[in-house]
Amino acid sequence: MPRDTDMNAKIDALLNQMTPEEKAGQVQQFFHFVGIEDVISPEVAAGRVGSLLFVRDAAEINRMQKIAVEESRLKIPLLFGFDVIHGLRTIFPVPIAMAASWDMKIIEDSQAVAARESRAIGLHWTFAPMVDIARDPRWGRMIEGAGEDSYLGSAVAVAQVRGFQGDAIGQEGRIIAGPKHLVGYGASMGGRDYDEAEISDSQLHNVYLPPFKAAIDAGAGNIMCAYMSLNGVPPTGNQWLLRDVLKGEWGFEGFTVSDANSAFDLCTHNFAADPKDAAVRALNAGLDMEMSLKLDEAAFRQIPAALAAGEIDEAVLDDAVRRIFAAKFKMGLFDNPYVDLDAVDGVLNDPAHREVARAAAEKSFVLLRNEGDVLPLNVGTSVALIGPLADAARDTLGPWVFEHDNAETITVLAGIQAKLGDASTVRYSPGVSMIPRTNGSFFDNLPGFDTAPIITVDDDLEIANAVALAQQSDVTVLVLGEAQNMIGEAASRSALDLPGRQQELLEAVTATGKPVVLLLMAARPIDLNGATPDAIMTIWYPGSQGGAAVANVLFGDVAPGGKLPFNWVRNVGQIPLPYGRSKTHKPKDHDTRYWNEAGDALYPFGHGLSYADFTYADVQTDKSVYAIGEDVVVTAQITNTGTRTADEVAQLYIYQRHGSATRPIRELKGFERFTLPAGETRTVTFTLTAADLSYWSSATRGWAQEETTFDLFVGSNSRADLQTTITIKKP
Ligand code: NOJ
Repeated sequence: MPRDTDMNAKIDALLNQMTPEEKAGQVQQFFHFVGIEDVISPEVAAGRVGSLLFVRDAAEINRMQKIAVEESRLKIPLLFGFDVIHGLRTIFPVPIAMAASWDMKIIEDSQAVAARESRAIGLHWTFAPMVDIARDPRWGRMIEGAGEDSYLGSAVAVAQVRGFQGDAIGQEGRIIAGPKHLVGYGASMGGRDYDEAEISDSQLHNVYLPPFKAAIDAGAGNIMCAYMSLNGVPPTGNQWLLRDVLKGEWGFEGFTVSDANSAFDLCTHNFAADPKDAAVRALNAGLDMEMSLKLDEAAFRQIPAALAAGEIDEAVLDDAVRRIFAAKFKMGLFDNPYVDLDAVDGVLNDPAHREVARAAAEKSFVLLRNEGDVLPLNVGTSVALIGPLADAARDTLGPWVFEHDNAETITVLAGIQAKLGDASTVRYSPGVSMIPRTNGSFFDNLPGFDTAPIITVDDDLEIANAVALAQQSDVTVLVLGEAQNMIGEAASRSALDLPGRQQELLEAVTATGKPVVLLLMAARPIDLNGATPDAIMTIWYPGSQGGAAVANVLFGDVAPGGKLPFNWVRNVGQIPLPYGRSKTHKPKDHDTRYWNEAGDALYPFGHGLSYADFTYADVQTDKSVYAIGEDVVVTAQITNTGTRTADEVAQLYIYQRHGSATRPIRELKGFERFTLPAGETRTVTFTLTAADLSYWSSATRGWAQEETTFDLFVGSNSRADLQTTITIKKP
């Protein structure tokens, strides 16, 4: 390609002029927080920085860029990265919520908006999507991913990469995507953040690696390494992972980055002897850029010394620099390094962005329970709106947002008030206090970061008040869950119940006998200790437009259609409980493995109710015997037997009956979200490819499609039992 030839020639020309220090500078990224400008600026001028993260002010981005481009010897522009996880100014539902939409278009559209806003302020790169498969809801970062399933996780990863990057790196209004954290972070022991992960080869290949491979095949330009040690070897220094798999087998051409301080941390982990050893081993393993919190905690600063000592081959360093330069070239930084300050506000305040956020929230809610069809509500209904999260703007946005505007965030209270207007009454009480964890998450302690305010009331008085409001109203809507800083990075929890006295509030209000709708603002499977409000809907952390979306769904303008991206465990003792487990001894007792209580999930993976009803019939394949390598076409008929138009997500699961290794009883291999009017029938068609029918076998230690029999199930969740059977033979 002419452009690449041109780019490579320019990169060669630059490399030829560079000193070891300047090369080491290009592979170094530093945090830049408010207040440390004077520390960072001289480093940039000296050519000792290739990239900055956490600058979120367009003027400051231009100022720093000017130092790089005008004051550094080789005038090489900086790459600006940031954690744009679920929106920059316009905040979308948290990533697990987006995954619950099972709607790849809205996921792509949302990240395209996030990219547009980010590019407008001068950012070039996001540390997203997080594509870690997570099967332990104690782990706070499960909120950042797509849940427990590798197939859904891969599809969501691809949609996000496309949204951020477009078709190719460098398109207007797009930024580089950095899928993270390669690999296995979601399996950290006990759900404790940053703890080590021990993952079998089978799980690694079949479950944890595929979303990364999918993201790279979709063109992702960057990959971030995970913090924890994986089977004893930290990914940041893992040659098998970075060189053999990522850059070798998968042919990844982008650049890798450490997690914050994870190269320096190779010493903390008792893996590297000292920072120089950490630098040598990380660079040799295939790490291209080190992300560092502080100047004096940067292992890659030892690169010149390691080069001089002959511990690094300069060609290895050059390859890392080349990959970073390629990103800078593709983003157009050598032509135009600056951002247009006059255009920023127009993009950040584009009303079209808010519309996407509202639609995304509406699609993400999962209706778990709806006894007696208590939902949807009528606009004439009087509502008692109770709960500490009902009017909590900051919590409505969820964690990992920085440039949001609380004032423009629509809370559930504001959304319902706007919907009902003068048509009926809304009586509000926070019900109980909400005291966010105060032992300080990482972000709480940074200058300029916004944490949720503490809500304090006299709990006893307010519970009594809430009960009185419930008695005076036709229906009670409770908004309960976890404050936004109780979940996310460094926010793991050993319990799944409602924090504070929310359970007591729930039980007191339910005891009135009035209809109760519980909205869960949470991203874990909350354990309600057996409480059964008439309806339960998880609204996650729904973002800037959350309250408007909630009102639209509560009052039936929109029917809920989201589906769970994880098995909803009954309690913390069941963890881990993925839906896709193997049949073992006494399979009939699969769901009664505990003598003291049920062993199955309270709500299965893929579950989500609607205001309509859907029936599934007639699962068929185009043949019954297939040769290895052949596509299998599966069809089913789905009818909306309800009385209104609504969305459904049809799901296809496979089960391989025998082979060189055992396979899970259900594995998702296809899904489609669609809108179906009442009374209509739709034929859904899924194509299973050879890849879908293959797996990595621990027996043969490789990928294979085997001669076997498959049961295929189609339905509305992972308990789907409508099935057909196919046989696979050698051609
Ligand atoms: C640490 C987190 O693990 C990672 O996901 C994030 O991108 C970096 N910090 C930068 O904020």
